[in-house]
Amino acid sequence: MDAIKQRRSVRDYTDKPISEEVLTALLEAGMCAPSAGNERPWHFVVITERTLLEGITEFHEYSKMLKQAPAAIIVCADMNRDKYPGVGYWVQDCAAATENILIAAQDLGLGACWLGMYPKNDRVEGLRRLLNIPEHIVPFSGIALGYPASAKSPGSRYDQTRVHRNGW
Ligand SMILES: Cc1cc2nc3c(=O)[nH]c(=O)nc-3n(C[C@H](O)[C@H](O)[C@H](O)COP(=O)(O)O)c2cc1C
Repeated sequence: MDAIKQRRSVRDYTDKPISEEVLTALLEAGMCAPSAGNERPWHFVVITERTLLEGITEFHEYSKMLKQAPAAIIVCADMNRDKYPGVGYWVQDCAAATENILIAAQDLGLGACWLGMYPKNDRVEGLRRLLNIPEHIVPFSGIALGYPASAKSPGSRYDQTRVHRNGW
């Protein structure tokens, strides 16, 4: 609950690199997500090369924090692992994996920010070109990662007016 409630999108990072151990912990968190029929359609592209991080900013206007971020993870879906073609449950699977990584990042003292990719075609195709992602793999989201340069206040978000009991 602490990590969930404290999490905010963090877009300013220090120079501190992220260790392999921490990156692996984040990937494990992603792979712990629930998925439809346990299809686990995900692949994760870990990016630490500066030219690639900056390359994303050329086709994604709201990803400028990647110029400073020491790492990013691209959450992708493997269409060959989609158990429900035409249904699109893979989108929810990848969203769950993305959120797991964001919460784990918070718990490990990192700052992170979800970067929307799918279904924006220019971003999906931009990632394909930049990272040599094959046709049957769809890049779903990006996660900018780094140690936060400043603290952000979470504030309370509980809203009783959004809660309905036993019907609307
Ligand atoms: C599907 C999705 C796409 C998002 N895309 C971006 C993005 O491209 N760039 C960005 O800076 N933040 C992006 N965000 C982060 C949101 O702006 C942020 O979650 C929202 O403003 C709430 O703030 P908080 O995360 O600090 O609670 C995205 C979030 C989601 C869920």
